Amino acid sequence: MHTALMGLQWGDEGKGKLIDYLATNFDVVCRYQGGANAGHTVLYKGENIYLHLVPSGIFHPNKICIIGNGTVIDIKKLQEELVQLKEKGIDFDNRFFISKRCHIIQPEHFTREERMQKDIGTTGRGIGPAYADKISRSGVRMGDIFSIKYIKKRGVNTDFIKSLKTFKENFGQFITDTVDMLHSLTRKEKKILFEGAQGVMLDIDFGTYPYVTSSNPSTGGILTGTGISPFSISKIIGVAKTYTTRVGNGPLPTQMDNNTQEMIRDVGGEYGATTGRPRRCGWLDLVALKYAVQISGATEIALTKIDVLDGLSQIKIGTEYEIDGHITNKFPAEVWNLERAKPIYTIFSGWDNTREIKEYKGLPEEAKEYIHYIEEYVGVKVSMISIGKKRGDLIIV
Ligand code: GDP
Ligand code: IMO
Ligand code: MG
Repeated sequence: MHTALMGLQWGDEGKGKLIDYLATNFDVVCRYQGGANAGHTVLYKGENIYLHLVPSGIFHPNKICIIGNGTVIDIKKLQEELVQLKEKGIDFDNRFFISKRCHIIQPEHFTREERMQKDIGTTGRGIGPAYADKISRSGVRMGDIFSIKYIKKRGVNTDFIKSLKTFKENFGQFITDTVDMLHSLTRKEKKILFEGAQGVMLDIDFGTYPYVTSSNPSTGGILTGTGISPFSISKIIGVAKTYTTRVGNGPLPTQMDNNTQEMIRDVGGEYGATTGRPRRCGWLDLVALKYAVQISGATEIALTKIDVLDGLSQIKIGTEYEIDGHITNKFPAEVWNLERAKPIYTIFSGWDNTREIKEYKGLPEEAKEYIHYIEEYVGVKVSMISIGKKRGDLIIV
């Protein structure tokens, strides 16, 4: 049976690091949505590697890595990523595959994104327009590049057709019917780990619309983005940072004061892995997190970057919102309501020195209390606690 791992906040929860760790226990790692807007960091041989499209399991020799049909492909970025991996000595021949059904990002998608980029604060990776064309049925897909006649008929720009031809010559062998492949692997009882990009709060349906991405990072996206059966997923690991970050526009109710933000940004390295933009930082928001746990159906939580809060005397958690004098623990559907939400905090004593801890029992009592409070509030257990960037910097509870 398969497992999914997805972000429960506004992205950058540390999914890449966890996928890289967990991949050992799986046969296959599969991306299901998003595109090169994602930036997943994996520390490989002491160096930060940023993966935008290739699944974060790629560093494990023999693991199959698949880009599922729900993902939109920027061929230039993918090519750069594959070349970078080859240069690092990562061999992915016969174990890396791209779905024939993935939509292709075309040059005009970047131009059309320019307005959106200003209003929403998008990553500039052509994501919104590419998904818009998919839904309006004017897109072209990876499998289509095997018929130049067909893509010409679909009105693809002549220069871009040349780039597609070159991509096909160099990387065409990786394009396949991944639906068939995933079902065949499932029949052979191979274990698949589905890798989410972005996070539930950026989901096109359930996130803080319109300040969202154009796909479904939440669980539904796995079904439409890979074609597997819902009954084949038995575990959903939701990833949450011990605090909250957001890059791009849109409300972040528990945003910290400027000094605390700067401190957290500095210690936590909170700069976008795709765009380099500083991430806004906030306290953990349990109203949003409980909502995300429900939407995703998370069966457990991986809590990351607990070490970043080391040394603080007090740590806050947002537990309710006050909106126009009304107190609520329900996450509002309307962005104009969320924009007015003032968080109500519960204050916890801080902790220190979590970086070297190997077992749950070694954690400071204050950290245990904080974790226990989260579990009680959201109703699922914390199963992993990440205390650093390295693959092994993890406490399994
Ligand atoms: P993703 O998009 O969810 O994969 O996350 P990003 O890679 O964009 O951002 C997470 C950042 O935090 C990366 O720089 C990781 O190396 C780093 N990171 C992940 N887990 C931990 C942790 O537990 N502690 C610390 N200090 N850094 C971490
Ligand atoms: P990972 O996978 C954080 C944000 C953008 C913007 C909004 C829409 O690394 O967690 P888009 O380019 O998708 O149309 O932008 O979504 N965003 C992310 N924020 N992490 C990401 O990915 C993101 N991908 C998109 O900043 O606010
Ligand atoms: Mg990221």
